[in-house]
Amino acid sequence: MNLLKNNPGEYRNLKVAVAGKGGVGKTTIAGTLARLLGRDGLRILAVDADPSYTLWSALGIPVDVAKKIIPLTQNEALIDERLKIQGAESLSGFFKLNPRVDDLAEKFAIQGPDNVSLLVAGTVEIGGSGCMCPSATLLKTLMRHLVLGTDEAFVMDMDAGVENLGRGTTKGMDALIVVTEPSRRALQILGKIKDLASDIDIGRIYAVGNKVDGLEDEEMIREAIKNEGIPLLGNVPLDREIKEADRRGMAPLDMNPDSPGMRAIFDIKERLVSETQDVT
Ligand SMILES: Nc1ncnc2c1ncn2[C@@H]1O[C@H](COP(=O)(O)OP(=O)(O)OP(=O)(O)O)[C@@H](O)[C@H]1O
Ligand SMILES: [Mg+2]
Repeated sequence: MNLLKNNPGEYRNLKVAVAGKGGVGKTTIAGTLARLLGRDGLRILAVDADPSYTLWSALGIPVDVAKKIIPLTQNEALIDERLKIQGAESLSGFFKLNPRVDDLAEKFAIQGPDNVSLLVAGTVEIGGSGCMCPSATLLKTLMRHLVLGTDEAFVMDMDAGVENLGRGTTKGMDALIVVTEPSRRALQILGKIKDLASDIDIGRIYAVGNKVDGLEDEEMIREAIKNEGIPLLGNVPLDREIKEADRRGMAPLDMNPDSPGMRAIFDIKERLVSETQDVT
């Protein structure tokens, strides 16, 4: 069954970004969500926007394939080709603000399991939120111009923190998922997200609790999100099998799709789909 189906013959597409504090589980959740959406019959483009790109591992792409990845924003030949203005002395002075990006996914994405392709965007060096460096321009333009067809979804794994959200890479997304742990510092991010909301320009913002160990943790997350008024898509329990998959270099979904954590992410996927279907 395709859950993105509104009416017979009519399908939606979905663009979702996953953010949060360092180490909370963004990559685990983004990679698993991408594959579960892929299993629903959608074509998925997973975009890794983290400079220390690890989304390949959560997607189950083999390490020997991953070793060959050159992130788009570190591909100097590409940046030169797409952004250099003929005759200009150096890139730092003059470069195009509207580089061609329509073929990047097709040319550079790597095929993974479950109908998911991975595009590693890589680092966006910043010298302030309004960075105008060529790599940032390439990534921003790519994000803004990604046009999804029907039966397609786009899942972006962000780097840690929320400052990056003000850089425009998330503009035009249907949903931003903020992953949080039951710790004060991770939960504070939710407040920062609200402050940034007007810059972020995203359809909807949701929280997901991760590494939740018992009722006290659940309560702590519930309180924090109530204060911020951000809806909770669900909690993912602390799951030894997710850790074990990491140790073995496997995608957690390949190790045990029925582990408590994987089942919780399945429920979150269902909730996300039904919530975003309401957007008209
Ligand atoms: N529910 C969970 N239960 C147990 N371990 C988990 C869970 N979710 C994630 N982990 C583990 O926590 C670690 C960090 O996860 P992950 O890399 O997904 O976080 P991240 O937010 O993407 O980190 P970074 O900020 O470095 O990109 C990994 O070792 C992962 O296996
Ligand atoms: Mg990560």
